[in-house]
Amino acid sequence: MVSIDKKLAELRVKRENARQGGGLEKLKSLQEKGKLTARERIFNLLDPGSFEEIDVFRTGCSSLKNDVEAVITGYGTVNGRKIFVAAQDFSVMGGSLGKTVAAKICKVFDLALKTGAPFVTLNDSGGARIQEGVSSLEGYGELFKRHINASGVIPQIAAVFGPCAGGAVYSPALADFTFMTEKDSYMFLTGPKVVKAATHEDVNVEELGGASLHVKKSGVADNSYANDEEVLLKIKELLSYLPQNNMSGSSASQCNDDFNRMEEELNRIVPFDGNKGYNVKDVIRMIFDNGEFFELKPEFASNIVTCLAKLDGRTVGVIANQPNVLAGVLDSDASVKSARFIRFCDSFNIPVITFVDVPGFLPGQTQEAGGIIRHGAKLLYAYGEATVPKISVIMRKAYGGAYIVMGSKYVNGDISFAWPTAEIAVMGPRGAVEILHRKELDNAADKEKFLSEHADSYAEEHANPYVAASKGYIDDIIEPRTTRPRLIKTLEMLLTKREDVPVRKHGNMPL
Ligand code: HXC
Repeated sequence: MVSIDKKLAELRVKRENARQGGGLEKLKSLQEKGKLTARERIFNLLDPGSFEEIDVFRTGCSSLKNDVEAVITGYGTVNGRKIFVAAQDFSVMGGSLGKTVAAKICKVFDLALKTGAPFVTLNDSGGARIQEGVSSLEGYGELFKRHINASGVIPQIAAVFGPCAGGAVYSPALADFTFMTEKDSYMFLTGPKVVKAATHEDVNVEELGGASLHVKKSGVADNSYANDEEVLLKIKELLSYLPQNNMSGSSASQCNDDFNRMEEELNRIVPFDGNKGYNVKDVIRMIFDNGEFFELKPEFASNIVTCLAKLDGRTVGVIANQPNVLAGVLDSDASVKSARFIRFCDSFNIPVITFVDVPGFLPGQTQEAGGIIRHGAKLLYAYGEATVPKISVIMRKAYGGAYIVMGSKYVNGDISFAWPTAEIAVMGPRGAVEILHRKELDNAADKEKFLSEHADSYAEEHANPYVAASKGYIDDIIEPRTTRPRLIKTLEMLLTKREDVPVRKHGNMPL
């Protein structure tokens, strides 16, 4: 007869075997490359002792050497809050995704959705498992459906630690936030060899899909960090700003920063010379709790800043033109970056606070041909459709269409403040003078003198906050140093905001 001791011993052996993934040798070679194993990544992410694994014995692919699948799935807590996690294990067939791998991920994804908890995928995969053929493709389809279905219901975070090839790229692409390790992580649809065959292009994996490309140029990833450990720490930090789901209310925490804190330096931060820049991140630091914020896509379209911060303990989304980069102009990338961020905030009931210093949309054939109208319309649409509380602070320039789209009251902004340095008008003074006084300008002996004199008087007459305030487009003109307490009070007032939207399946956002 088989004894219980034997049964228990068998269970322990099988469980231990599962912990070895594709075998000790393969795990060791990952560690030699300075990477964590999939299991170590989970332990780094979750609170100690909180991981509960699901489907540890689930297998199905006949090509497996060790009867252990290429993904570890389960749930645990991060700072006491439940999350679900799937970590692809590169030591097993290169982390490739077949039917069982997909089924394991989908099971925890479904649980995350049912229980309303964030879902985190830790990606390291050679893509569709070639041996499983079209069943792998079905697996991807099932997974993608979950990403789509859960979008706007639970926060989804993806991290890329190694290759992410072929179908593997779409989990990070569909997630709300994607982080990469600076070295040895890459995402591309097809690798260098296929590229060479198809287009005769010589590119290496870094150039084709490295972290630098995705955080600076393509915008597919939000942020990159030095190594696996840092990526996991940043996921934990990001989670501290996020609600559990779209019904759980904003993630409010105890605030130990002074509600009434006033920063004298804010009164003088905007240079009087309109051509001079300043760092809007200093403004953000001075206003939000403890000077802390979590910036997303800092290296992509850095002419606009998008970040999560806390205001009196409540999470808010912050969007700010960055006068230090391209004078804070709005271009296609900046529009798309901020539109997607607003939609995330709105899905999860995170109020949006906008800091405006924008000279306009970037003019020129390159931007027009690249569809700046379509991309700018995304930003306009995202602000206009968002029903969360929306507060804006106009610090300096707010001209024309760029002013309208940056959360103005014209498109459903709730409360707009202006600093006394605000210049609010249809267009910038020089452009206006060139149109209004074209003939006189043509005949002027000293064109530059004429232009600057008339631009000054236009600015005095039109480009100030008092005209807009007199018409109610600005709710108050405030001393910059009082911005923190004013924002806190306004946010508190707006927290019970309700806004009806017309019944429809969904709008047709210009994509
Ligand atoms: C099965 C795979 C695999 C895959 C890697 N392996 N990718 N097995 N299916 N897709 C296996 C290798 O055979 C090897 O097994 C082990 O994983 C490690 O791979 P190596 O090549 O030795 O490692 P490395 O040199 O680090 O290169 C990693 C890699 C490379 C860059 C990911 O393996 C690669 O190019 N793989 C194919 C990538 C790709 O084109 N994927 C797209 C698939 S099509 P052993 O036994 O030797 O350890 C696709 C379309 C889906 O995904 C579309 C859905 C929308």
